[in-house]
Amino acid sequence: MTDQGDWTTDLDIRIARTDEDVAAHHRVREAVFVAEQNIFVDHDRDQWDDDAVKVVARLRDEVVGAVRLYPIDEAGLWKGDRLAVLAGARTLGVGAPLVRFAVATAGQMGGARMIALIQRPNVPFFHRLGWSRLGDATSYRGASHQEMTIALSGAQPAFAPAGYRWAFGGTAA
Ligand SMILES: CC(C)(COP(=O)(O)OP(=O)(O)OC[C@H]1O[C@@H](n2cnc3c(N)ncnc32)[C@H](O)[C@@H]1OP(=O)(O)O)[C@@H](O)C(=O)NCCC(=O)NCCS
Repeated sequence: MTDQGDWTTDLDIRIARTDEDVAAHHRVREAVFVAEQNIFVDHDRDQWDDDAVKVVARLRDEVVGAVRLYPIDEAGLWKGDRLAVLAGARTLGVGAPLVRFAVATAGQMGGARMIALIQRPNVPFFHRLGWSRLGDATSYRGASHQEMTIALSGAQPAFAPAGYRWAFGGTAA
């Protein structure tokens, strides 16, 4: 990850559609949220993983980033979460494109607005990407979080890409 050069041409962000990409998506999440941050014990999977759009960011053929997104109602509200970049690949410009990809994808899939529960230290990062605070800070799994939101521009009629089903209702863990 420390090589210099035009690394942006080596950044590939896509929806995880293969078993290999889905496994890599989960590996990144577990490395960050279980092993590094200890936010979850053993694993960070929940019911939303059954149908969520899972995204991987590959830098020079190595999957180093992940995010997932899913609709939470039928009025076009989407949620993005589990944004993670492996520690050794941070500040290289992977996280911001991942967020933009999630926003663009949710818009293309018919979303009107997206929300995310952000770890407080990351609020400036999301603010720079056009997100706004929604309400007051809250505690989630023992850490201070801030709900943030962004309008999804260019929304198209809702559809589910092949291989995905939407499950509405419930509360994201
Ligand atoms: C938050 C995270 C995804 C950012 O990923 P990243 O790949 O380092 O982000 P980028 O390199 O695309 O950063 C883009 C810009 O935001 C800045 N930035 C990154 N994290 C920031 C933060 N927490 N606060 C303020 N600025 C931040 C970068 O320095 C960079 O600035 P620049 O454009 O002036 O160079 C990553 O740090 C991470 O995975 N952290 C651990 C897990 C986590 O906190 N997930 C988010 C849960 S809400």
